[in-house]
Amino acid sequence: MSNTEQWTDRYTHAVMNTFGTPQTVLVRGEGCYVWDADGTRYLDLLAGIAVNALGHAHPALVKAVSTQMATLGHVSNFFATEPQISLAEKLLSLVGQEGRVFFANSGAEANEAALKVTRRTGRTKIVALHGSFHGRTMGALALTSKEAYRAPFEPLPGDVVWAPYGDAEALEQIVDDTVAAVVVEPIQGEAGVIVPPDGYLAKVREITQRHGALMWVDEVQSGIGRVGDWFAYSASGVVPDLITVAKGLGGGVPIGACIALDEAAALLQPGNHGTTFGGNPVATAAALAVIDTIERDDLLAHVVTVGERFRAGLADHPAVVEITGRGLFLGVVLAAPVAAEVFKAALGRGLIINAPTPDRLRLVPPLVLTVQQADDAIVILRDLLDELAPSSDELKQSSDELKPSSDELKQS
Ligand SMILES: Cc1ncc(COP(=O)(O)O)c(C=O)c1O
Repeated sequence: MSNTEQWTDRYTHAVMNTFGTPQTVLVRGEGCYVWDADGTRYLDLLAGIAVNALGHAHPALVKAVSTQMATLGHVSNFFATEPQISLAEKLLSLVGQEGRVFFANSGAEANEAALKVTRRTGRTKIVALHGSFHGRTMGALALTSKEAYRAPFEPLPGDVVWAPYGDAEALEQIVDDTVAAVVVEPIQGEAGVIVPPDGYLAKVREITQRHGALMWVDEVQSGIGRVGDWFAYSASGVVPDLITVAKGLGGGVPIGACIALDEAAALLQPGNHGTTFGGNPVATAAALAVIDTIERDDLLAHVVTVGERFRAGLADHPAVVEITGRGLFLGVVLAAPVAAEVFKAALGRGLIINAPTPDRLRLVPPLVLTVQQADDAIVILRDLLDELAPSSDELKQSSDELKPSSDELKQS
């Protein structure tokens, strides 16, 4: 048995089986590479699902975490800490609005906090969108559309109504003065990197404003530089009421945040919500280091450059229908449902990608991925698509061959 096989065997006996059998067991990371227990190196275009913004073992993050741990590792929420306060100020300055921040430990928890904020409006109804993913805790799951995730846990917290994603007219029909909030991902990640039509977010803002409902943007996956902007909603020019972030914020150290703007910032009052670890000094120091490094190294511009490189390198492949997303939040839409095969074969070529749906690949690499590393990945991906993914023309041809000819139809 190889090391990886031994560890995998131990995993299956000790770790709860919520994720299925792991692909491999990783032991080390540096920059955009990780190594498994057998010493195999992988170029990591998944980054812990849009988490390792600075790659692995980035010196700024290592220093911030170790210095903070050696100074003050944790306090209760009866007390405040400097990194907690500084990070709240920093997030508000990135948003560019007055507000207040609640710190949590994950995306789902950031969303739970936002959900509790919405309840304090005096209304309970939430409009969520088809294809959404907001997390696996019961409140976040109530807003997550996938039936397979929801069904085993029903009844979920109620008063959620559903609208099609990206359809402003449908939303217009559904939102009225009883709605507390509309929750929207500016780009849907788990659904396969789906971008709504231009003007959609502005329309969501207009509709919610008209009915006195909150606009809540879930930036857990899209936020903190991933699209080449601090937030994916920013380009739309809207000012939401609630913004939830997590994933890339801590660069691998667990942290989430619910940023409430203007009047929404005062809805939660003492005793309304809490968490032991949220706003922990080590996690907030880590997030400050991530944001600092993105600013110092001009990574927002870099993300745009490398994202364009992927587009240019993959869009013309005959098996690719379309590249969706922005910056380094990319979906590769395939003509055929072979994403899982491409993902598996990529691992065999030392490349970690992701297949969120049968016909979509997702690329969410570290924001520090170099142009050379993108080029290396493009070569491998094109090879794999050549081998495994038929083009639209080939698919059409084979379906034409299966169709009965007009002579055959006449005979039958
Ligand atoms: C948009 C969005 N919201 C919330 C979550 C849940 O975050 P977490 O897994 O940290 O609870 C995710 C995770 O993929 C996400 O993509």
